[in-house]
Amino acid sequence: MSKVTVVGAGNVGATVANVLARYDVTNEIVLLDIQGNMAKGKALDTWEQAPIEYFSTKLTGTDDYKKTANSDIVVITAGVPRKPGMSRDDLISTNAKIVVSVTKSIMEYSENPIIIIVSNPLDVMTYAAWKASGLPASRVFGMAGILDTGRYRAFLAEALKVSPKDIQAVLMGGHGDTMVPLPRFTTVAGIPVKDLIDSKKLNAIINRTKKGGGELVKLMGTSAWYAPGAAAAQMVTTILRDERRIFPCCVQINRQYGLKKMYLGAPTVLGRNGVEKIIELKLNKSELKALHKSAEAVSKVLDGFKKMKIQ
Ligand code: NAI
Ligand code: 2OP
Repeated sequence: MSKVTVVGAGNVGATVANVLARYDVTNEIVLLDIQGNMAKGKALDTWEQAPIEYFSTKLTGTDDYKKTANSDIVVITAGVPRKPGMSRDDLISTNAKIVVSVTKSIMEYSENPIIIIVSNPLDVMTYAAWKASGLPASRVFGMAGILDTGRYRAFLAEALKVSPKDIQAVLMGGHGDTMVPLPRFTTVAGIPVKDLIDSKKLNAIINRTKKGGGELVKLMGTSAWYAPGAAAAQMVTTILRDERRIFPCCVQINRQYGLKKMYLGAPTVLGRNGVEKIIELKLNKSELKALHKSAEAVSKVLDGFKKMKIQ
């Protein structure tokens, strides 16, 4: 028996609930939003999909935290998304308060959940939730790397005219324009990507990946939800099945890669206990430099959050 709560029934949260229900890996999904009727409506709509798509996961929509009691996993997507011209970091003043209060409300009713953060600015919101929850860092982490590598893999598949299924990649750093896709750790069915594509094309793909979120904001006037929702649902599924799959996740780094204690994207083994292991790659000088630059960008936003002194 397992229970998953998704907080925020907007574009991303509703997609997480929908994709997860269709995977049929949990008995129950609670979709919570301050807009209670919208959460109820989206949960009901997905439940009515069950006979069509053959799943048994039961869904409930609510604005009442009591209904989230004893959740095994909680995905937090509550907050505002960015509009054209905004960076993810511009969202901090609104989303920090939301993420802290949501986390505290969740902890009133669930003793030892695993919490996956999606709200932006992701790396700092994950830190905020970790602090507010009092949980060990292995149980609080964020979703960004699966989405960012998803974009990178999709663009590579298109350029190479191969299936995206066969592209494996590692990407590190913050969920922002300083993110660090790692071509040295990118393969196509085991073949190093650099053997298959010239460096000019590869660099163009890397740059498009870094700005991938912005590309969608420009097209839609708000940020993406299908791939982000699927990415968070994949993390939940891996944990519930105790698969120990390796994904880039936003995790608490503690001296690895020569970095101070902070949340940042790194390859992670995910299993029943959440973060089972953070993998320490042997990065070369330029990779490490790019990672440190990304960490610096996240640190600045983190300092801003700390100054807000949200209780
Ligand atoms: P949305 O506006 O469609 O949905 C957000 C929902 O949060 C709304 O339904 C709103 O009522 C709800 N909400 C606001 N305050 C709340 C509270 N205190 N308690 C419960 N619910 C509350 O936004 P969308 O597109 O779903 O994005 C959600 C967040 O996820 C944004 O911060 C966005 O930037 C972030 N995001 C992160 C990604 C990542 O890779 N980590 C990818 C895509 C989005
Ligand atoms: C994205 O990358 C906005 O973080 C969100 O689509």
